[in-house]
Amino acid sequence: MRLKQIGVKTSLLDSRLILQEVLNINYEELLVSATRIITEEEVEKFEALLLRRIKREPVSKIFGRKDFWKYTFKTNKFTLDPRPETETLIDAVLSRYKDHERELKILDLGTGTGCLLITLLKEYPNATGLGVDISMEALQVAGENANNLEVMDRANFIKGNWLDGIEEKFDIIVSNPPYIKTKIIDSLPSEVRFYDPISALDGGESGLDCYEQIMKDIEKNMNAHAHVFFEIGKWQEMEVPELITGKGFEIKEVKKDLLGIPRIIEFNKPYLKVIKH
Ligand SMILES: C[S@@+](CC[C@H](N)C(=O)[O-])C[C@H]1O[C@@H](n2cnc3c(N)ncnc32)[C@H](O)[C@@H]1O
Repeated sequence: MRLKQIGVKTSLLDSRLILQEVLNINYEELLVSATRIITEEEVEKFEALLLRRIKREPVSKIFGRKDFWKYTFKTNKFTLDPRPETETLIDAVLSRYKDHERELKILDLGTGTGCLLITLLKEYPNATGLGVDISMEALQVAGENANNLEVMDRANFIKGNWLDGIEEKFDIIVSNPPYIKTKIIDSLPSEVRFYDPISALDGGESGLDCYEQIMKDIEKNMNAHAHVFFEIGKWQEMEVPELITGKGFEIKEVKKDLLGIPRIIEFNKPYLKVIKH
């Protein structure tokens, strides 16, 4: 009720999730718990968590975890919560690389919680990967997630500015960089503006700063047959491909998310075309 009053659209769902968290039970257990007596301590805990939600903290940040693909990732104030639309990137990679046994080398730029790299390492058990982030605190979370999801033996994480200082070549490069225009940030929902780190959101005046920085150097890190997958923001489906083709790359596919919004741009180096006489 209190969440509804302040305009939280998912008020009922959020209250239920908070109650489940406090009682440490799942939805099915909650449904058959109508006669369960709630202790004073549980009421206090519920009240404390509800208060955080009233202050617009997202449920994922309150619980410190978020589901992505088939897995649960730790998240905190230093990491962007994994988003459902980002799962489109995993779909795009799976459509391109159908042989799951391949020994792929994967690079994730702006790894955050590590959700992209770690999910891909789970899907490709012979792959190895590197996650880069400018935030040491985010890398700490990514490392914990890799450990929890048992891919730490195939993952490395380093602090860095995009591709600076990375000499290695990769088969797959993925990135969901910050892409929100600076002037839009103040109009984002409080859940995002106050609880996701600004360094994960702000894409500069045009929203394109990070793509431009990554594109400057990317060729040096691509194996001959490498494919790159970028997540893009709404309304960027013309600008980002233009930037990519302007650097001589070829767009292979633009994949839409479940809402029908163009979300993933896949590209590679053009191959020499052999013309038969
Ligand atoms: C939009 S978040 C994406 C996080 C995660 N990959 C995901 O898809 O949920 C962008 C990430 O890029 C990182 N980042 C921002 N600027 C960076 C830079 N110059 N070099 C490397 N990483 C950077 C941020 O710290 C943040 O973790």
